[in-house]
Amino acid sequence: MSGGFDTRRFKAMERAGFNRIAADYDDAAHLRASLQEALIAAAAPAPGEHWLDLASGPGLLARAMAPRLAPDGWVLATDIADGMLAHARRRLGPADGPVHFAAADAEHLCLADGRFDGASIGLGLFVFPHPERALAELHRVLKPGGRIALSVWGAAGTVPLIERAQQCIARLLPAPKVPRPSVFRFGEAAYLTATLQAAGFTDLRLEPHDFHCRFADAGAYWDAFLALAGGATEALSRLPAEMQQALRAAVAEDLTDLADTDGYHVPASTLIATARRA
Ligand SMILES: C[S@@+](CC[C@H](N)C(=O)[O-])C[C@H]1O[C@@H](n2cnc3c(N)ncnc32)[C@H](O)[C@@H]1O
Repeated sequence: MSGGFDTRRFKAMERAGFNRIAADYDDAAHLRASLQEALIAAAAPAPGEHWLDLASGPGLLARAMAPRLAPDGWVLATDIADGMLAHARRRLGPADGPVHFAAADAEHLCLADGRFDGASIGLGLFVFPHPERALAELHRVLKPGGRIALSVWGAAGTVPLIERAQQCIARLLPAPKVPRPSVFRFGEAAYLTATLQAAGFTDLRLEPHDFHCRFADAGAYWDAFLALAGGATEALSRLPAEMQQALRAAVAEDLTDLADTDGYHVPASTLIATARRA
C-alpha cells in the first residue's frame, strides 16, 4: 500500500481499538451469529485436525470450532490485539474444547511450515494492510491440501451496517489526510478470487451470506458500530466528547430509509470463501 499510508501506525490503531472494544465486540457478536455458523459449516473442521484461527478477536470461531476437533485436535487462536485474546481466554469454559492462544500479526507468523490442516479468518482479511502477506503466511503454515475458510464484508453499497456510520462520519468530520483501505474491497468476487489464486490457493468456492440486524434506536446502531470498528472506534474515542455525542445523534439521519415500526432493520452482505492449498 502506498501514497503515504503508514502501515505501522495503522496496525497500532487497529490493535489499540480492538483491545479497547474486546468485551463489547464479544457482547455484540450475536448480531452476526448466522455468519459465524455459515463460516464454520463451510470450514467443516473435523475431529483430530489442527486449525489456525487468524484475527480471532474474542475467539468466536475458535470457541465454536474446538468441540468439533476434540479430543485429539485443537485450534490456535491468534490476533494482533492481545486484549482480545485475554478476553477470549477468560470466556473459555471447562466444557469448551481445546483452544490455544498466541498474539501474532497475521502478516508475520512465528509458526512452523506445513503445520495446520485448516485456517479460518472471520472478517479479518480486509483489516490487514498487506493481505497478500497474510495469505502467503497461511499458505506456508498449511499442510499441502490444507483448507482455508474466510468471511469478508460484501461490496461497497451492500453493507449498510457499516456504511451508514461511515457516511455519518464523512458528513461531520474532515476527510482523513491519508484514506484507509476500503473494508469492502474483497466483497468484489473477482478481486477476492484473484487475490486467493495469486496466493497459491485452488478449489475456490464463494458463497454470499446476507443477514439483518435489528436496532431499537439509532443510538443502539451507533453502539454496535463502535463495538465492531476497531481502528475507527479508536480514532473516534480521541475526539472531543461533544463531537462524539454529535455523531451519535446525527446518525439517525443516515438511517431514515431503514426505519420501520419498531426501530431500524439494517442489512449486511458478506462473502464466505473456501479454498485449498495446492
Ligand atoms: C473485525 S474483527 C474479527 C474478529 C473475529 N474473527 C470475528 O469473526 O468476528 C478483526 C480482528 O482482526 C484483528 N487484527 C487487525 N489487524 C491484524 C493483524 N495485522 N494481524 C492479526 N490480527 C489483526 C483485530 O485485532 C480484530 O480482533
